[in-house]
Amino acid sequence: MRSKLFVPGVRPELFAKALAGDADALSLDLEDSVPGARKQEARAHVSAFVQSAAALASAKLVVVRVNALDTPHLVEDLGAVVGHGVGLVNLPKVESAQDVLAAVALLERAEAANGVASPTGLLATIETPRGLRRAAEIAAAHPRVAGLQVGLADLFEPHGIDRRDPANIHAVLFAVRMAAAEAGVPAWDAAFADFADEQGFRVEAGMARRLGYWGKSCIHPRQVALANEVFMPDAAQIALARRIVAGAREAAQAGRGAFVVDGRMVDLPFLKRAEALLASIDSNPSKP
Ligand code: COA
Ligand code: MG
Repeated sequence: MRSKLFVPGVRPELFAKALAGDADALSLDLEDSVPGARKQEARAHVSAFVQSAAALASAKLVVVRVNALDTPHLVEDLGAVVGHGVGLVNLPKVESAQDVLAAVALLERAEAANGVASPTGLLATIETPRGLRRAAEIAAAHPRVAGLQVGLADLFEPHGIDRRDPANIHAVLFAVRMAAAEAGVPAWDAAFADFADEQGFRVEAGMARRLGYWGKSCIHPRQVALANEVFMPDAAQIALARRIVAGAREAAQAGRGAFVVDGRMVDLPFLKRAEALLASIDSNPSKP
């Protein structure tokens, strides 16, 4: 998913608009865009929507961001939404492998109660200092962890860290990307609140793209096309990846691990990159 559009669970009038738009995924939010007193109402709206014929028929990935483990809301959130076409549950403020295992246990219970046969993937958000320090163990904690999501507002704002300083952003994005890579799972870039600043979004998304992120959260429809464009691998890169994979096959037959493509040496790490690129477009709903 190149773009994941957040929609507050208390704004059901936006659900159909978001579904009709170009985002690869919707992220229906039960967490910070929903005030404490309206959690139940948001759950009911999201539960009804994810079971609607329109949502079930859509090719979009449906994600629900639930409330964190240390809140009184998570069990009810999962009970209301698990199954019914929800592809990923996004768990905020994950801080340890134990957190992941605790969430998986709750997910399993909700799936059993709702008669859901296939396991729901978990997208773990890294957005606390402790979570950042333990991001690699979080990513590797359980096969249900489908990827890591960066959250920069929670990580930076309470600690007075400048959200617009590229050095700060790069430090976090690199660390989380390495943690995800260690576990062999993808990573997704954070939301960008200043939705009038399209250039700022594009620059930040570009940094994430160069770090191997698969996409970025969007909080406004105008950010969706930008994310789709930045994270769409271009045709030349795809063609090069195909030539590298084909070249590796020929080289292997000749008993060689290092060979030449377009005048450059290619060996195993380059082959892995090419294979990962081709795998990412295979998992992308909008293939170029
Ligand atoms: N999903 C779908 N449609 C949306 C949308 C969203 N997240 N945000 C805005 N729109 C629609 C509006 O309904 C409006 O449609 P219209 O032209 O048919 O009237 C259009 O896009 C332009 O919206 P705009 O008036 O610029 O935005 P707003 O002032 O109503 O809302 C936000 C701005 C930021 C409050 C809103 O976009 C939002 O709630 N975003 C998600 C926030 C969130 O989930 N945060 C938590 C994760 S970080
Ligand atoms: Mg957050």
